[in-house]
Amino acid sequence: MNLTLHVWRQNGSKTSGKLVTYNANNVSEDSSFLEMLDEVNEGLIANDEEPIAFDHDCREGICGSCSMMINGVAHGPERHTTACQLHMRSFKDGDEIYIEPWRAKAFPIIKDLVVDRNSFDKVIQAGGYVSVSTGGVPDANAIPIGKDYADSAMDAAECIGCGACVASCKNASAMLFVAAKVSHLALLPQGQPERKNRVLNMVKTMDDAGFGNCTNQYECEAACPKGISVEFIAKMNRDFLKAGLASKD
Ligand code: FES
Repeated sequence: MNLTLHVWRQNGSKTSGKLVTYNANNVSEDSSFLEMLDEVNEGLIANDEEPIAFDHDCREGICGSCSMMINGVAHGPERHTTACQLHMRSFKDGDEIYIEPWRAKAFPIIKDLVVDRNSFDKVIQAGGYVSVSTGGVPDANAIPIGKDYADSAMDAAECIGCGACVASCKNASAMLFVAAKVSHLALLPQGQPERKNRVLNMVKTMDDAGFGNCTNQYECEAACPKGISVEFIAKMNRDFLKAGLASKD
């Protein structure tokens, strides 16, 4: 298939950017979206032009690097699918595709489609850990965990930190990401010692980074490639309230 791409090109957060049009010809419908971009880049390099910068690592829907808006939708048109797992059969011959970076104050553009998501790393550093006592490794079955809690913790742990929730939210809120990271530890016995401090510190770090607040639009859940539920936001808000009241004792 032959496609027309409109790709955001920008040299950094201090310069302005613009959409640049490229033709992508003879694209196989079996190739992934990133493979299609690879081919476009090979053509640009052959013409001594600068290739389009975009982030990727695993290309298996695991690392969350491949952040980009495709036709205004985070990760493109397929639900529960990262850009790296999106196949070109999702498009039609002759389509025009607009490709842009995440847009949020807390995600400054590094180059073209690549944004700096260091603010997410700071949120994780603020509480994404558990205390481990020294000594031998405890037997895996020594800490019984109810199936409902284990399932829910695993659902939250599916978050790959891609930032689609932020990019799709009109407030650029990171509540779904932070809620998933808070909840997957708060649901497990191993996460209880730091539970109160974790939610307070992670929410404060989120606010300090410049993310907006949640106004219950639920775009985050719709855009999340892992289908993380907004119920985790409600859970985090309850934990945050309790921890805040306890800290005033
Ligand atoms: S490149 Fe790792 S999730 Fe897409």
